[in-house]
Amino acid sequence: MRKKVGLIGYPVSHSMSPQMQNGAFEKAGLSYVYDKYEVHPDQLAEAVGDMREKGFAGWNVTIPHKQAIMPYLDEIAEDALKIGAVNTVVNENGKLTGYNTDGAGFVKGLMRHVSFPMEEAKVLIIGAGGASRAISYAMGKEGPKTIAITNRTMEKAQDIFSECLRDQDQVISLQEAEERLTDFNIVINTTSIGMKEDRLPLRVNHLKAGTVVSDIIYNPFKTALLKESEKRGAIIDNGVAMLVFQGALSFEKWTGVAPDASLMEKIVIEELGGSYVNR
Ligand code: ATR
Repeated sequence: MRKKVGLIGYPVSHSMSPQMQNGAFEKAGLSYVYDKYEVHPDQLAEAVGDMREKGFAGWNVTIPHKQAIMPYLDEIAEDALKIGAVNTVVNENGKLTGYNTDGAGFVKGLMRHVSFPMEEAKVLIIGAGGASRAISYAMGKEGPKTIAITNRTMEKAQDIFSECLRDQDQVISLQEAEERLTDFNIVINTTSIGMKEDRLPLRVNHLKAGTVVSDIIYNPFKTALLKESEKRGAIIDNGVAMLVFQGALSFEKWTGVAPDASLMEKIVIEELGGSYVNR
């Protein structure tokens, strides 16, 4: 019998994880099957109990269950505790452990483009929602020189700073971020600006050539931020990498082996019907 894994969320219909994970299982010759399960918030406890009992090897968790699932798990890994959200559950003989691979997955994708030592990295993170929290924590662990976080709502940036960042990091206003953009060699957009409208999360007039600019949005493939940054000589990357590497890290937690991440990336790009940016 094939081992079961999957995704719970509400909704889940848009997810590309089944294609991406099943392709990787097949390539690795592993007998697993990944399905998506739409779980209404009222049915979360029941769904978790059910999956535990049915012997799921583990599963991914998406909106709106990433925080809500925590009380139903037996153990929560340090990264997930710090970030305050779980996106991956591992079931070991009925014992459920929650992890967060979103931040580490993002960092793994980003590092493909960073050619300077991390001690020289000066990182700007735009946005202060759930994605920003995961990315801020994971970036901090990489040991960059500084991280500045900025957001429309400053209190939310302040909260992430206090809970996930380090003493040498800082909260700055959007205006200050625009003015000081030349100081940063890594810029990360974690907001949804650029997804529905062709708009920038901040003005990039002061962006330096060679800066790594990463947007967690993958649809559109190239947001206004990426287009404008590319014009200024930045090295750009979109959100496909985060999607792929968070999934690759989950795969590894369930199976104990690393998947073919390039195949996963290819599958996602095919599903999106696009061609990859800046390859
Ligand atoms: P996620 O969990 O996916 O990160 P979220 O928690 O809704 O999503 O966070 C969205 C981020 O995009 C926040 O930083 C939000 O800014 P606020 O904290 O000020 O709300 C930002 N964002 C979304 N729409 C925005 C807009 N129109 N202008 C400025 N910031 C926006």
